[in-house]
Amino acid sequence: MAIDGPAGAGKSTIAKRLAGRLGFVYIDTGAMYRAVALWALRQGTDVGDMHRMEQLALAADIQLSPGGIELNGEDVTEFIRTPEVANGASKVAVLPGVRRAMVAKQRSIGEKASVVMEGRDIGTVVFPDADVKIYLDAKLEERVRRRLVEEQAKGNAIDKKALTDQMRERDRRDSTRADAPLTQAPDAIYLDSTPFSIEEVEEAILKIVRARVTNGKEIR
Ligand code: DC
Repeated sequence: MAIDGPAGAGKSTIAKRLAGRLGFVYIDTGAMYRAVALWALRQGTDVGDMHRMEQLALAADIQLSPGGIELNGEDVTEFIRTPEVANGASKVAVLPGVRRAMVAKQRSIGEKASVVMEGRDIGTVVFPDADVKIYLDAKLEERVRRRLVEEQAKGNAIDKKALTDQMRERDRRDSTRADAPLTQAPDAIYLDSTPFSIEEVEEAILKIVRARVTNGKEIR
């Protein structure tokens, strides 16, 4: 099952809950791009250096677990959640070599288990034959509001204007890159989560899933 959409649309929250309800494995592909970016930033590698970045992406040992992510044996769950890493992830995600390496890892995970995989290109590129594809959207203002609430809960005070600018720029980069840009797959169901609660979005998607199951198909 594939969930794509822009930053802050609620993909992670919803995908995690759905995976729990369905007994599927939750896969956060954004975390994988973030891990590659984190490694590059720590090493002082230029995230625009195509060849070096492809080598890093191929060499990165990335392990996803229900609770987080390990990079080369180190738990980096917290370290990948900074604005610098988010920005770096969006930049490394432009590079075809990096994408090839990540997509290969994602396909190999998805072939071994039933997954709820979220990202930008899951329904279009990684698993174009996924049984359920959701494009989860929300208005920029609402996505910023949700992120601010999240950060405040962690005790971080961030500037609303700076966050809005960062998100807009990241969306622009993610949806205008040449390789696998963020876009709705033709057979994906579009959901605008702006006016809805998490529970409402979750129920709406579960209804879609159940309709498929009732039609006698196994979900993947
Ligand atoms: O979902 P996220 O904010 O953690 O993703 C971080 C960046 O990674 C995002 O700006 C674009 C990139 N990304 C991608 O290009 N393809 C994916 N499937 C997932 C994320």
